[in-house]
Amino acid sequence: MSRRRYLVLMGPPGAGKGTQASRVAEAGGLCKISTGDLLREALAAGTELGLRAERTMKAGELVSDDVILGLVDEVLDRPECAAGAVFDGFPRTVDQARGLERLLSERGEALDQVLIIEVPESEIVSRLSGRRVCQKCGKLYHISFDPSRQEGICDACGGELVQRPDDQPETITRRLAVYAEETAPVREYYAATTGVTAIDGDQPMGAVAEAIRRELQPADAEG
Ligand code: AP5
Ligand code: MG
Repeated sequence: MSRRRYLVLMGPPGAGKGTQASRVAEAGGLCKISTGDLLREALAAGTELGLRAERTMKAGELVSDDVILGLVDEVLDRPECAAGAVFDGFPRTVDQARGLERLLSERGEALDQVLIIEVPESEIVSRLSGRRVCQKCGKLYHISFDPSRQEGICDACGGELVQRPDDQPETITRRLAVYAEETAPVREYYAATTGVTAIDGDQPMGAVAEAIRRELQPADAEG
């Protein structure tokens, strides 16, 4: 059996991590592990963890490393992750990056590639304020750049499209500051270890997807 494949997709809020991670996961037969989605699912299910994370997320702050690593540890063993995973929005601190290394090495695995989607701050606010998310299936839309066929209704499942509570201007500002303080050092960490591939995210979604596809190392590059 070939080795499992693990990719990290980094970038500031609104860079398009979720949009692109879904495509990369589907194309490669990998699962998508989005810690933001996992937290929102926990909240929707009314679990204690979800309810505890709610205030932190609404404020644009980071949930603790222990909670996040615990979530990832659980999800890594799901059957849909049997071929590997694309991490979206994780790791976000250097301690999470070290924690991920440990979780993978415990399984005899290692990280293959880290990609960072770069988008200027001026673009981020318009992306996040126009974002809509299907409440039922989580599919992403944008009111101008990627609208649903019928306003407010998901094309895929007919669910209601809503705005994320942390997509308010003051929370966006805080999320950007937290990214600069806590997550920018993760890039430095990977630059010195796994290596980082920069992707120009300031172009249409299809062009970003194509740039990622070009940069992805072939699945059978090693082992
Ligand atoms: P999370 O859900 O990860 O949010 P984020 O990192 O702020 O990123 P977003 O999901 O907002 O943006 P994205 O890059 O996925 O962009 P998208 O594809 O949606 O985290 C939320 C919170 O959870 C955190 O603040 C924290 O509290 C907590 N959390 C999560 N993970 C954590 C961790 N590891 N540790 C601690 N705390 C954690 O695209 C945005 C919009 O733009 C969409 O509308 C899309 O349609 C549109 N769009 C995408 N690409 C393009 C393009 N090329 N051109 C035009 N529009 C585009
Ligand atoms: Mg996202």
